[in-house]
Amino acid sequence: MEKTSGAWSGRFSEPVDELVKRYTASIPFDYRLAEFDIKGSLAHARMLRHVGVLTAEDMAAIERGLTDILQEIRAGRFEWSLDLEDVHLNIEKALTARIGDAGKRLHTGRSRNDQVATDVRLYLRDAVDRIQSGLRACQNSLLDLAEEHAATVMPGFTHMQVAQPVTFGHHMLAYFEMLARDHARMADCRRRINRLPLGAAALAGTSYPIDREFVARELGFDEVCGNSLDAVSDRDFAIEFSAAASLVMVHLSRLSEELILWMSPRFGFIDLADRFCTGSSIMPQKKNPDVPELVRGKTGRVFGHLMGLLTLMKGQPLAYNKDNQEDKEPLFDTVDTLLDTLTIYADMLKGVRVRPEAMRRAAAEGFSTATDFADYLVKKGLPFRDAHEAVARAVRAAEGKGCDLADLPLADLQAFSPLVGGDVFAVLTLEGSLAARNHVGGTAPEQVKAAIVRARATISSK
Ligand code: ARG
Repeated sequence: MEKTSGAWSGRFSEPVDELVKRYTASIPFDYRLAEFDIKGSLAHARMLRHVGVLTAEDMAAIERGLTDILQEIRAGRFEWSLDLEDVHLNIEKALTARIGDAGKRLHTGRSRNDQVATDVRLYLRDAVDRIQSGLRACQNSLLDLAEEHAATVMPGFTHMQVAQPVTFGHHMLAYFEMLARDHARMADCRRRINRLPLGAAALAGTSYPIDREFVARELGFDEVCGNSLDAVSDRDFAIEFSAAASLVMVHLSRLSEELILWMSPRFGFIDLADRFCTGSSIMPQKKNPDVPELVRGKTGRVFGHLMGLLTLMKGQPLAYNKDNQEDKEPLFDTVDTLLDTLTIYADMLKGVRVRPEAMRRAAAEGFSTATDFADYLVKKGLPFRDAHEAVARAVRAAEGKGCDLADLPLADLQAFSPLVGGDVFAVLTLEGSLAARNHVGGTAPEQVKAAIVRARATISSK
């Protein structure tokens, strides 16, 4: 095997140092772009044929050669060589070995700079499509849970203190909304990914009579990149994707934190299916929520990749610099992490078993209907601040007696305000509190059910 890359060794008088070769090569990771590289090359070759730069025979040979190589790669029979630096040169060399001079003509009017930018965009577009399906799967699981528990009472928290009753369905719908925005962010990001860099060549464009719109159509790009220098150098689309991916992880990490808390015996709100948990090697009683903990933990690496890509870009003068080779590993890892996380999550949510009695007990213990009591007094004419004060005193009294507000006798409650009547007990119940929040976006079971219907319509319309 030759010691320097066949693509550019003509200029050099000594072989590349072994460590330098390893240091500069991207083949150990960019082989993953092979499918997209071949797709891009086929489109480029067809365009060259279309404008008359390639003969029909050369074109046929390239098409046949690349198709065979793709099959070899898919079958795991292709031999990647470190000497050939990256996925582009590996494939081009294999093509030339098969079909001779026609293979050497493929790179006409093209550079690895616009080639790699095209490959990464094709890769990322495909990844976004799969991530969007993953998000939808999670949203569906959330809706199923919400539907089952549209009227299941749980304590809603602020500052991690019991605040007001909500339904578990309402709580799940909050995450549905977050993932809906994530889906929309991915769609938006995809629009900017879906532009064709090919034609920019190394940086300045090419002197061949190329047809960039032809290539864009072949590859399903919405339009061509408008400036050759920008096309080969910026990776803002990858950064934007990483930011959107980070937000998906933020949302799933928050949900994970809740699942972990709820599964703790201190809460006992839910149980997770055994297949998402592991035991302890020393404590026989343990069932640990490993999957949500790892989702929370893996969020860190996705954030890290975002920071890495931002830093990678910030000091680069126009146009292409080798720095950009460093975009791939963070991107691949972000996509892999996200896809696995979404796939596992959609399934894990199906295995959440809710314990309504524990949730109800916690909601009943935390004076969660105190606001309803205050609202009741306001409706009887008391200014809200005075009502707040009266109820605060009632809460203190109930706390002293170790009971809930609804357990205090009518006469005791009347001591805090003469406006209290026998009808107060209806508003002090958890169900009364829920039913009172009966507006769009509120937690009344009726509203939760309506929100689920709306949500199902939005995700099935696309
Ligand atoms: N392996 C390179 C990358 O990932 C391909 C482009 C290299 N271009 C060059 N002129 N060295 O970015």
